[in-house]
This record gives sequence, structure tokens and C-alpha cells, in this order.
Amino acid sequence: MPASTILLIDTDPAFSETISSVLSGLGYSVTAQPDPDAAFAQAATHQLVIIDVVGERSGADVCREIRATASMAPIPVLCVSQTDEVEERIRFLEAGADDVMARPFDARELEARVEALLLRFQRSKDQRATVSSDGITVTRKRRTVAVHSPKGGVGTSTVAVNVAMAAAQRKPDQVVIVDLDLQFGQVATHLNIDPAQTLADVVREDAAMREPELLRTYATKHDSGLHVLAAPTGPELADLITADHIDRILDTLLDTYDQVVVDTGTWLDERTLRSFEHAESVLFVVNPEIAALKSMTALIEYLGEAGTVAPKSTFVLNNTFGREILKLRDVEAGLGTKVAIELPYDPFLYLKAVNEGVPIVLGAPRSVAAERLTKLSSLAFAADGVVVPQEASERKSGGRFSLRRR
Ligand SMILES: Nc1ncnc2c1ncn2[C@@H]1O[C@H](COP(=O)(O)OP(=O)(O)O)[C@@H](O)[C@H]1O
Ligand SMILES: [Mg+2]
Repeated sequence: MPASTILLIDTDPAFSETISSVLSGLGYSVTAQPDPDAAFAQAATHQLVIIDVVGERSGADVCREIRATASMAPIPVLCVSQTDEVEERIRFLEAGADDVMARPFDARELEARVEALLLRFQRSKDQRATVSSDGITVTRKRRTVAVHSPKGGVGTSTVAVNVAMAAAQRKPDQVVIVDLDLQFGQVATHLNIDPAQTLADVVREDAAMREPELLRTYATKHDSGLHVLAAPTGPELADLITADHIDRILDTLLDTYDQVVVDTGTWLDERTLRSFEHAESVLFVVNPEIAALKSMTALIEYLGEAGTVAPKSTFVLNNTFGREILKLRDVEAGLGTKVAIELPYDPFLYLKAVNEGVPIVLGAPRSVAAERLTKLSSLAFAADGVVVPQEASERKSGGRFSLRRR
């Protein structure tokens, strides 16, 4: 995990030197600061703080001060105890240390503890918990929602477009849908618009990825108030867009739009994974059929290794067939988790919506499908007073890819 910045508060120059060189050797960038008072001001800009302090102020005091400051509360703190006595360890833990390491320790232990803390911290950051000024942990507003399926034709774009449209109805001109199904994206078709510019044009102008207002001019405005950043016009242009571009575009969009929906299509590559990283909520669409279910479980298995997508995943079962092939409970058993929303089959509604380019939530707002899609949009953005379960309850559900259960 290179490039993480670590603040080392160490009053002993020799120990400071040793710890710094071990961590630098692992690719971390280390700021060594022997003075605990001076260090205090630097802590907030680092990703991890190591406290190894002897003298009049104990390490536990320094730790307690960091913990008492709301802006620093989410930063992981590793304390070095000078003995391996239980009392000293407890003093550190009571002061709010996330981990304690007793002297003497070797380089491998230091490496393992630092890595584990950074990983834990990254996870909780991915869940977007922030600390408000009064020190109370709140779940950050959900602003980016990604929609994905490892299999085509299951309704990914239908879900993405309707979720975005329902959001735009709540907030006209403040919601954008980004078509990152880069080769053959059909968001524009679903909306019957003819974009003058696409993502291929955006990435040609460096400033557009940096300047929110300029980026906005690349979006096509739908009459409803939904804005669209369209996919390139052909597969030959898809490769122009890199994972780095996606990072910059999704970041910059949040400076000018309130909410972003990303149709990531079916292709899993670094670009899709970056979109998942940006999203606070990832909707996975599956239909009740063995191949779709198998590819979804393979994807879950794959993503499970990284561990950051699972807690923000929501499954949508889209009944694209007139006959029941797999039951809801078979699908849930296969996925190993609950389906949040089931979309009903309809022989005409969805087809008509695509053919006419009028999403269901606009064209047939009273249909069950529209009702469910609107609910899904609220759920994904945690809008309209939808209660978002806290991290702890998400964890409780158990299993490797443990997800929210409703
Ligand atoms: N629940 C459903 N019942 C019937 N047809 C559906 C349903 N959901 C989607 N469709 C149709 O399936 C086709 C594929 O949908 P689309 O959203 O473009 O899928 P994807 O983006 O996954 O390829 C479209 O013609 C759409 O109208
Ligand atoms: Mg699609």
C-alpha cells in the first residue's frame, strides 16, 4: 500500500530513525516529528499516526488529545508501549489507540500492524462515515451510485436510467448520468437524445476533467432536467478513456452536480472498479436465470477478495422473463444475500420505454415497475428519509460477502 502518509511522533531519535527507515523501505511516506506539540497540528493531514513518546507527556496523553479532536478522530493511531505490561497497553487503549505494539518489536510486526490499520481505515473511509463537528459519527450523503451486471441484457441500463430519472425529478439539473458502458452504451437511446458531445470529447480536453462548469457543458440536457454524459459513439473510441480519466471525471462532477449515476455496463476492468470505488452505493442487476446468477456469484467472489464493494452493494432482481425460471429464494440462496428490490416482468412496458426513449418512471409513473424503480432510487441515494443501516448492522449479517439485509 504505497504512498500512504504516516506521521511518526517519536521522542527518541534512534528509534525514530529505525521506524522511519523500515516504513520508508516499504514505500510509505513518513513524517518524523519528535515534538508532540508540533505533531498535533500535522496529524490531520496524515493517514496514520504512530505514537512513541517518553517523557513528561505520556504517549497516552498525546493519543487522548488526538482522539478528542473531531477532525482527527477517524485517523488510526498506533501506540508503542515501552513495556509489554498489560496495564500500559490498557492505558493506551483507553486513550483511544487503535492498536498497541510493545517493545521490542521487529520490522515484520511493524509492517503487519501498519498495513492492517491502514486497510481497516480505508474500509471505513469507503463506507463514507464522517465525523461532524460535534464529534458524532454520521453516514455521509450518498452522491454517486454505480449500476452493474456481469451479463448483458438483464436491465442494467433500464435500472440506471430510471434511478437517475427519479433522482432528477427530486432535483432537476442536479443529477447527471454517466454512460460508462463505453463500447456500446445505450443510455442516450433510453432517453431518446442525440448527444453532440460524448466522454470521448471530454477526455480530449484536459481542462474539462478539472473544471466543473466546463465539464457540465459536455453533458446533454434532457427535458426532464436529467443531464447525460454519453458514451463514445463507437467501440473504437472506448479505449481513449482511462481509469485515471474516470477518477477525475467522477470527482469533478461532484463539484457541479448533487448526484451522479454511473451505468458501468457489463465489462469489469480497472475503469469499472474505479467507478465502484467512487460510488457510495453499487446496484447489481441480475435476472432469474442460471447464467446471470452464475456470473453474478463469480463477480461477488472476485470482489470479495478486495472487500470494499460488498458493504455498499444492493441487489436488484429483474424479472425479464414471462415465465418463472428461478424463484426469488433460489436467487437469494445463489447470491448468498437478500435481494433489495424485485422488478416485475412486463411484456410491453420496458420495451416501449426503450423504443420511445421515455423511461418508465416518466412514461408510466403509476406502474408497479415505476414505483419500484423510484423506491430503488431513494434507497440507493438514501433519499426521502430512507434509513441507512450503520456499519455494525451491515457486518452482523455474516458471510464472506456479507450485505445489508432488509
Ligand atoms: N422486467 C422486464 N420485463 C421485460 N423486459 C425488460 C425488463 N427489464 C428490461 N427489459 C428489456 O430488456 C432489454 C434490455 O434492457 P437493458 O436495460 O438495455 O439491459 P442491459 O443494459 O443490461 O443490457 C430492453 O429491451 C428492456 O426493455
Ligand atoms: Mg446497457
